[in-house]
Amino acid sequence: MARRSLSNCRVVITGASSGIGRELGLAFARRGSRVLLTARREQELSAVAAECRQCGATAEALAGDVTDPLFRAALVERAVALWEGIDVLVNNAGISAHGRFAESDESTLRQILEVNFFAATELTRLALPLLRQSRQAAIVNMSSIIGHRGLPLNSEYAASKFALRGWSESLRAELAADGVEVLIVSPGTTETEFFDHLIAKRGELPWGESTAIPAAAVAEQTVRALERGRREIFPNWRGRALVAVNRLFPGLVDRALAKFLAASNNR
Ligand SMILES: NC(=O)c1ccc[n+]([C@@H]2O[C@H](COP(=O)([O-])OP(=O)(O)OC[C@H]3O[C@@H](n4cnc5c(N)ncnc54)[C@H](OP(=O)(O)O)[C@@H]3O)[C@@H](O)[C@H]2O)c1
Repeated sequence: MARRSLSNCRVVITGASSGIGRELGLAFARRGSRVLLTARREQELSAVAAECRQCGATAEALAGDVTDPLFRAALVERAVALWEGIDVLVNNAGISAHGRFAESDESTLRQILEVNFFAATELTRLALPLLRQSRQAAIVNMSSIIGHRGLPLNSEYAASKFALRGWSESLRAELAADGVEVLIVSPGTTETEFFDHLIAKRGELPWGESTAIPAAAVAEQTVRALERGRREIFPNWRGRALVAVNRLFPGLVDRALAKFLAASNNR
């Protein structure tokens, strides 16, 4: 049963030039939302905005780096200039690196935290006064299964997504009285360009990408969850199963992952 209508809703989506963000833009557009899309690659972003307009939606693109405080301010200002507010903020932009923590460096860790965590928190801080004025406000934070269960060769990414999830839960309680909902999306492996954009690759994941689900499925489930006022979703059932098993038998999962890693060529 739909609780929130997304028709005419003013939506800002980060990381909209490809993958899940692109599909989210299209899913909102198909529901008649007004979307403001952002990411660094201007050409790809404009193409996504054009696709959204083909769905009959109002779509704008503003290219820039979400880790830049001036750009974040400009993005919020653009939303005000266009629509005098924001109803839904989707913090989706994300990056990762693969490899052992011991072989990585501080700059990789900080870069991942800047995009996946600080850009989301600080963009939200700027958008909050506008969200509080909306009668159907929501913040959507794109976490991951790895925000529930740390996996080897993903320590920096796990840190960023755990942080995002913890912050989201605190925020949800703080904003409840203002009527601003917080939806956490925790996908498992998804078919996107994500693994082509790793900022460092010092090892191959032992489990590969064979169980990936389409980005459009993640986007559709996210938009539906928003319509229904859900708090958190796990679009990939394998990921959900891992989180459930880990809750019951964390030691078993620790041992299985260590064994899996040792048996792979990541010794
Ligand atoms: N794919 C998966 O298996 C998976 C699983 C769980 C969760 N997720 C999460 O889903 C989200 C979307 O990822 P995806 O899978 O759709 O990968 P993707 O296709 O690589 O999308 C990542 C998006 O983030 C944008 N981005 C990266 N750094 C940015 C920056 N500094 N400033 C502005 N935009 C930036 C990229 O655009 P530009 O390069 O144009 O800036 C791109 O639009 C991420 O938060 C990711 O952690 C993905």
